[in-house]
Amino acid sequence: MKIGIIGAGNIGGTAAKLFVKAGHEIAIANSRGAETLKDLIAELGENARAVSIEEAVKLGEVVFISIPFGKYKTLPADAFDGKIVIDSNNYYPDRDSSFAELDDNKTTSSEMLAEHLRGAKIVKGFNTIWFEHLKTQGNTELSADERRAIFIAGDDAEAKKTVARLIEEIGFAAVDTGDLRDGGLTQQPDTAIYNRNLTGSEAEAILGSEGGY
Ligand SMILES: NC(=O)c1ccc[n+]([C@@H]2O[C@H](COP(=O)([O-])OP(=O)(O)OC[C@H]3O[C@@H](n4cnc5c(N)ncnc54)[C@H](OP(=O)(O)O)[C@@H]3O)[C@@H](O)[C@H]2O)c1
Repeated sequence: MKIGIIGAGNIGGTAAKLFVKAGHEIAIANSRGAETLKDLIAELGENARAVSIEEAVKLGEVVFISIPFGKYKTLPADAFDGKIVIDSNNYYPDRDSSFAELDDNKTTSSEMLAEHLRGAKIVKGFNTIWFEHLKTQGNTELSADERRAIFIAGDDAEAKKTVARLIEEIGFAAVDTGDLRDGGLTQQPDTAIYNRNLTGSEAEAILGSEGGY
């Protein structure tokens, strides 16, 4: 599959390596331009190229977004029409500056992204796992029950299936927390499943008993 990645830092760069290893083709972009990604591309090999943000969106059947949430409005909204988007962003006011609608719990960061990228099918995912764990804890040798869970939330069932497949191909278990609003709320910073090394059944026990957040 062709995957566009926007954001080439801790999470975007790590996801790129895992997706290439799983046999996918990567087009990756950052804010400073393709020429600044030479070292990463050399490491990723021939199935990866550095491109502009617009090209990463255009080339990706799936677009993986991993940038500081506060920059989401800089994404070229029209280019995302019909795309499956993985939203790995988190809202951290100290880094992103304050958004009153988030601080008042009127909405969530993923819903704000979805509002901006209106034509896209947003799946919140990969946002609860620290990049060092993403790098090392996937294991395709393990059964689904033994693997660490990566959580997904979204309103489009087919898009979630596609993202779940990608998660399984890199050695994790995909756990669906629900729709973008309520599922997304269970996946935010400081929730019961955030940054915790859980298998799918351990996660489901927590989500069932604690409602997740
Ligand atoms: N770090 C983690 O373990 C972790 C885990 C889960 C989720 N997250 C979330 O994932 C997101 C990325 O975190 P990170 O730790 O990977 O950050 P990071 O290492 O600082 O990397 C951020 C990347 O985003 C790019 N970027 C910044 N503004 C951009 C824009 N307007 N358009 C396109 N690209 C832009 C940066 O490019 P330049 O360098 O060229 O500016 C950089 O490649 C955040 O929302 C974070 O909360 C992080």
